Amino acid sequence: MRSLLRRLVPRSGGLLHSLKGAWALRPDDCPCDIHFVEWLERQGLRNQAVFHFGTGDHHYVGVRLSESDLGASVMGITATRREYDSYIDLITHRPELAGRYCVYFGDIYTANAALLPTFDVVTLFHLCEFRTEKNDAYGALTDLDLLHLFARGTRPGGHLIFYTGSYAYAVAEPVIAEWAAASPVEEVEGYRTLRVFRKTGAA
Ligand SMILES: C[S@@+](CC[C@H](N)C(=O)[O-])C[C@H]1O[C@@H](n2cnc3c(N)ncnc32)[C@H](O)[C@@H]1O
Repeated sequence: MRSLLRRLVPRSGGLLHSLKGAWALRPDDCPCDIHFVEWLERQGLRNQAVFHFGTGDHHYVGVRLSESDLGASVMGITATRREYDSYIDLITHRPELAGRYCVYFGDIYTANAALLPTFDVVTLFHLCEFRTEKNDAYGALTDLDLLHLFARGTRPGGHLIFYTGSYAYAVAEPVIAEWAAASPVEEVEGYRTLRVFRKTGAA
């Protein structure tokens, strides 16, 4: 099996830049997921298809939105095996969530538009936090590429949301500015730690 895989998938020379450990919910240090759920509830946006970058081990966004009567559906991504395992445990024990909350394991910087649906809301709270030369080793997207890719995959009128409390926000800010200047988006009222952009037309 391994030799078949080797023939089918040429090796890049590096391993996927996955992460160790698992992130617990820390409302005082990192409230972005909590603020996001509050934002969606206050906006009263119904039946939104959400892409969420960085599930955490708590799966707060997926669980809260799956349980709510807003009708949201969430696709999340994690780069840690433990968070992916905790998702498997979650839907094994609570299969009623599975239809509304789907998580995949991988490096978001390998995202491929051909494999993604169109979203109403995209959260990119962890932009610029974890991307390094380890991602370059296999030709992964840059943070700016990632932003353009997910913006193209957001429907007109939909939202892209950033976290000003990120430890990498100073790095992300000029990337967001460059993207916004070249894209059909407008910045709308933010919420607590979140910056919110609305897509105004087709990219
Ligand atoms: C600092 S944790 C934050 C988790 C959660 N959003 C919170 O605020 O509690 C970062 C999250 O991003 C995910 N992550 C980081 N880099 C990633 C990458 N390149 N691809 C996919 N997920 C990634 C991690 O697996 C983790 O869930």
